[in-house]
Amino acid sequence: MIIKPRVRGFICLTAHPEGCEKNVTDQIDFTRLKGKIADGPKNVLVIGASTGFGLASRIVSAFGSDSSTIGVFFEKPPMEGKPATPGWYNTVAFEKEAHEKGLYAKSINGDAFSNEIKQKTIDLIKSDLKKIDLVIYSLASPRKVHPDTQQVYNSVIKPIGKTFENKTVDFHSGTVSNVVIEPCTEEEVNNTVEVMGGDDWERWIDILKKEDVLSSECLTIAYSYVGPEVTTPIYRNGSIGRAKDHLEQSAFKISEKLKDIDGKAYVSVNKALVTQASSAIPVIPLYISLLYKAMKEEGVHEGCIEQIYRLFETKLFSGEIPTDEKGRIRIDDWEMRPDIQAKVSQLWDKVTTENIGEIADLEGYRNDFFKLFGFGYDAVDYDVDVNELQEIPG
Ligand code: NAD
Ligand code: NA
Repeated sequence: MIIKPRVRGFICLTAHPEGCEKNVTDQIDFTRLKGKIADGPKNVLVIGASTGFGLASRIVSAFGSDSSTIGVFFEKPPMEGKPATPGWYNTVAFEKEAHEKGLYAKSINGDAFSNEIKQKTIDLIKSDLKKIDLVIYSLASPRKVHPDTQQVYNSVIKPIGKTFENKTVDFHSGTVSNVVIEPCTEEEVNNTVEVMGGDDWERWIDILKKEDVLSSECLTIAYSYVGPEVTTPIYRNGSIGRAKDHLEQSAFKISEKLKDIDGKAYVSVNKALVTQASSAIPVIPLYISLLYKAMKEEGVHEGCIEQIYRLFETKLFSGEIPTDEKGRIRIDDWEMRPDIQAKVSQLWDKVTTENIGEIADLEGYRNDFFKLFGFGYDAVDYDVDVNELQEIPG
């Protein structure tokens, strides 16, 4: 079929298999050029492996460290006349490239919160890899069905205690407007912590350890975010921030549980980037388009693959793991540089619908957004018929 973008608000309903392949091969090429990571991981499990930071983690593990990888994710397969979700095509491309290089790569598509998918993953590890030395936890989900009670929890992105009002942008039209978000209830906070906190990460590590598939000195990493003052009421001090607090606390709890096998759990605070998860958050797209402008001007802009390569090379696998006063790895260090933040905050005060094209990198934002779905690549001819019914090799 001929596949064009069909955008509804902050999501795109279609994805292009060849464009997604290009997205993946670009990341692989980047990794290959950077070269091998000394003392990198060997057998890696990535939970949330099909897009964003999780996909980049899988690519750096495989192509920067010759790792065998198992990827877990939740994507919709294609149907006749209806393309799959991007993470499906990303995985088709990833596995193809990995297998061509002689690397082990298998994937499990299903709900990572469920006991069933956890068991399936354990079975696959036992039959193929035996032990895992790195577990990346990179889920971003709006809801969770509790594995034991089947209760459904929905996460919200709202401030706590006080109405939030600030600028936001519709990144398609470039219209800057004011957004007002009412505070959430205590129940909404609890639900958000249930979905995006560390409970599921801990469950994964509990079962992996119980089933004896973690190697000694294994590492597990989950991803968090801090961000600037302008987004603090809606992000870090809001409902999602409570979930991130919980996730960060879980790292200590998990480390404690891994002590007897000399394993360690860390949270890495990553940079704000355009992903499917972040484009759904009000205010963040405006911040990101100003941040991109400032970071590109200073020559320190990074995408997911640059972030994760640097995380592996300079933080995880180069001796002592450096952390901040809260025990977190900071790969958002360049985003949080005082000169970058000063620039962004100065632009933030000035930005309007009239000047956004000039003072923000809205075009960079949009390009990155479309690329998430495989659109906007010069190398792809979007008028040509493509096979939407591609299968993950397995
Ligand atoms: P993403 O939307 O690109 O990736 C989410 C992944 O989770 C996908 O692989 C998806 O298939 C998988 N997933 C979702 N629900 C699932 C389920 N029920 N079962 C199995 N898999 C499921 O998101 P991302 O931005 O890469 O986010 C990953 C992590 O990084 C999140 O914890 C996020 O908070 C964090 N982070 C993101 C940013 C950012 O700016 N994007 C910055 C810092 C930290
Ligand atoms: Na991810």
